[in-house]
Amino acid sequence: MFPAKVWIREVGPRDGLQMEKEFIPTERKLRFINSLLEAGLQRIEVTSFVSPKAVEQLKDAESVVKLLKTKGQVEFSGLVMNEKGMERAVEAGISEVVVVISATETHSLRNGGHSIARSLQRMNRIAGIGAREGIRVRGAVAVAFGCPFEGEVPVAALDGVVAVLYDAGISQITLADTAGLASPVQVKGIMSALQKKYSNVLWGLHFHDTRGLGLANVYAGLEEGVSLFESSTGGLGGCPFIPNAAGNVATEDLVNMLHMMGIDTGIDPAKLLNAAGELEDMLGRSLSSRMLRLHKSACQ
Ligand code: COA
Ligand code: ZN
Repeated sequence: MFPAKVWIREVGPRDGLQMEKEFIPTERKLRFINSLLEAGLQRIEVTSFVSPKAVEQLKDAESVVKLLKTKGQVEFSGLVMNEKGMERAVEAGISEVVVVISATETHSLRNGGHSIARSLQRMNRIAGIGAREGIRVRGAVAVAFGCPFEGEVPVAALDGVVAVLYDAGISQITLADTAGLASPVQVKGIMSALQKKYSNVLWGLHFHDTRGLGLANVYAGLEEGVSLFESSTGGLGGCPFIPNAAGNVATEDLVNMLHMMGIDTGIDPAKLLNAAGELEDMLGRSLSSRMLRLHKSACQ
């Protein structure tokens, strides 16, 4: 049975913008975030508290968070990879962070500079700071469905990372197909196994559309009852530490599919297209999501 309501976490301001070379002024980022709020997005990953040497675009994380307008029940989150990032997040006053752990050693070293074991130790310390400071700590597993460096990711390796997150009391876990290597059958198998094994976890799925399987993978997740998906407006995104990374599933295409299936998202599709237009203005180029292209051709 499909879920009646699905939550979408917009990751465009983080995953989308982290690939953009030219620095985007903070106020423009805020305009984009505000247009997402207008469209009804209630979960937004707004920035990363990582080293500006690694991701220069998000060096203004503190300023972005300071300028956020809280609106109802909106959950804003920021990505952290180490204690320094967590301290910055606490100082900035964000109420939720996501700690990313890679499912393979090679990605772990390239993305965060440390082994999986060391990254999990850091995650435990970050979770401790979160508990002390009243900040919700989510977990995300990168390259969960396949790694561009190591190939197939054994389910036991993925499960090994999930187990440590679970034992640390993390109750929201996103599995990220960072390189876009997942297939629907694989998604079904993994979600079925993990949901049986770990109770009380709110699972999220995050697909990149490298091979055009993004929405098919979402559908597979829905069939397994997953009710939270991450996406980027305009299909922007990618990982600077992954070769040939394609963007995320586009939020407007995801919303369109869910609404056609009769699933509630709380998002206004027309206002979402406005947010995509805002993003295109900000970047100075056209974006490639299907719904945006359709909308623009209808307007001409
Ligand atoms: N914020 C700001 N600066 C940071 C930082 C953070 N969270 N973490 C480390 N730094 C700085 C340190 O001050 C140090 O600067 P210096 O060379 O001027 O002294 C330098 O970065 C290296 O610090 P170190 O303690 O060796 O870093 P680390 O090994 O604990 O962590 C990461 C390295 C994770 C911070 C770095 O690899 C990173 O930011 N990666 C980005 C990953 C990412 O965003 N991936 C995409 C999303 S999954
Ligand atoms: Zn991603």
